[in-house]
Amino acid sequence: MQWKTISLAIAAIPQYVIAQYATAAMMRFQCSRLVVERLDPLVSPGLIQSPHIHQIVGGNSFNATMTPAEYDPSVESTCTTCSFSEDFSNYWTANLYFKARNGTYKRVKQMVNLGLQGEEGITVYYIPPYDGQTKVTAFKPGFRMLVGDAMLRQAQGQQKQLCHRCYTNVQQTPFGGAPCADGSGMDTSALPNKACDGGIRATITFPTCWDGVNLDSPDHKTHVAYPSSGSFEMSSACPASHPVKLPQVMYEVMWDTREFNDPSIWPEDGSQPFVYSMGDGTGYGWHGDYVFGWKGDALQRALDARCSNDRCAQLQTQTPAQATACKKPQTVEEDVEGCK
Ligand SMILES: *[C@@H]1O[C@H](CO)[C@@H](O)[C@H](O)[C@H]1NC(C)=O
Ligand SMILES: *[C@@H]1O[C@H](CO)[C@@H](O)[C@H](O)[C@H]1NC(C)=O
Repeated sequence: MQWKTISLAIAAIPQYVIAQYATAAMMRFQCSRLVVERLDPLVSPGLIQSPHIHQIVGGNSFNATMTPAEYDPSVESTCTTCSFSEDFSNYWTANLYFKARNGTYKRVKQMVNLGLQGEEGITVYYIPPYDGQTKVTAFKPGFRMLVGDAMLRQAQGQQKQLCHRCYTNVQQTPFGGAPCADGSGMDTSALPNKACDGGIRATITFPTCWDGVNLDSPDHKTHVAYPSSGSFEMSSACPASHPVKLPQVMYEVMWDTREFNDPSIWPEDGSQPFVYSMGDGTGYGWHGDYVFGWKGDALQRALDARCSNDRCAQLQTQTPAQATACKKPQTVEEDVEGCK
């Protein structure tokens, strides 16, 4: 079963119907905002404050220093903003701002994705191979990785699987289709150059192969790899250098740009007005970070059982109200709504 079929199914058919016939399964769940602040324990460990603002979701033990394995989010956290309540991982991305014609900035909030509940945040996916059998190995305590390069301002040199979809209608159709697929014409690496009536979906898809040894690497990238083939890689073979097959982690951030679509407040030269928190108006600096923090073997159990969507007999869930009650104060108080 292909990506397209699955995501169209999610869009069009009630969850209970999918459960009856889907042969492929992927976890897809809401993690609401924990905090918006200038910290990055992966790229700038210990640094208060990191160079740019991020939005962080997941376990509330997120902190400037999270030493691999030694500092275990599943032990240090007392709550999580994710709907699976044993997931104390941290997921974070750059933030998006609207730069008005008069030069002021406003933070772009996010929509909660179709079929999910909570507050603004990130839709998180863990996707095993579609054959329903191939075993994938859950991440080990201390594992972390990064996709994207915050300094990049051009297409050249960009990692694969970072893209934006401009929803040209409020129904957000067509909803399915593999993200970032070559030739689909629907997704772009750059921020869309036109107003998007249904908002902008920004996707980050992580590598699916691990070297089996290192929890991290100096660039936070080389301990993992994408398979050399496959547009959506979880079903492709891993290279010999990185033989351990991981679930494919994917983030979707549904930027709610709808309140900013009035052309009279856009730049006079017609250029698009959205800017990532690194001061990036191109979109090529879009990036996402992952620090694993599932409790015990919960993620492995869920993967082995091919859990689907945001309900799973093998996992504990919490209500949207419980998830959104989990918050962390900013380490350094700062206005993140209007500045960049
Ligand atoms: C987070 O880091 C600060 C120092 O920056 C420290 O005082 C605090 O105890 C840390 N929090 C946790 C939960 O470790
Ligand atoms: C600047 O423009 C934005 C968008 O039109 C508006 O909301 C804001 O009030 C304006 N601010 C100033 C200082 O003019």
